[in-house]
Amino acid sequence: MVAIGCDHGGYELKKEIIAHLTKNGVEFKDFGTYDGNSVDYPDIAKLVCKSILSGECENGILVCGTGIGISIAANKHKGIRAAVCSDEFSAKFTRLHNDANVLCLGGRVVGPGLACELVDIFLSTGFEGGRHALRVDKITAIENEN
Ligand code: RB5
Repeated sequence: MVAIGCDHGGYELKKEIIAHLTKNGVEFKDFGTYDGNSVDYPDIAKLVCKSILSGECENGILVCGTGIGISIAANKHKGIRAAVCSDEFSAKFTRLHNDANVLCLGGRVVGPGLACELVDIFLSTGFEGGRHALRVDKITAIENEN
């Protein structure tokens, strides 16, 4: 199950992504926002991240205007590794090397075609482990120190 959420800046793009996931039979849970009215992206990041940390959802997709604010908010959650991506290489390698569990997109940055490609790459790529696991463990250690 994929958790998905956006603020008003990401609302139109989230609709496109939801249509894409639905067409491909990917199960998702939509944490809002459900219209184009202004909302605060940290509130949505929190809902999506909590659903991942509780085990309800495996991973997440967050969309705001740039993808940046919502990724900063997401990365404040212990155990969340959120990556803002606007190219295929980054979407692939943030899974392979960082074991990212949240993909952040900018609704005012990437178009729907590219965004859906990034989603597909992110959801279909596994973590490489090995030396990268040691580095991800160090990220966890930093979280635990702070
Ligand atoms: C909202 O206008 C905008 O600030 C937000 O969507 C996002 O881009 C923040 O990083």
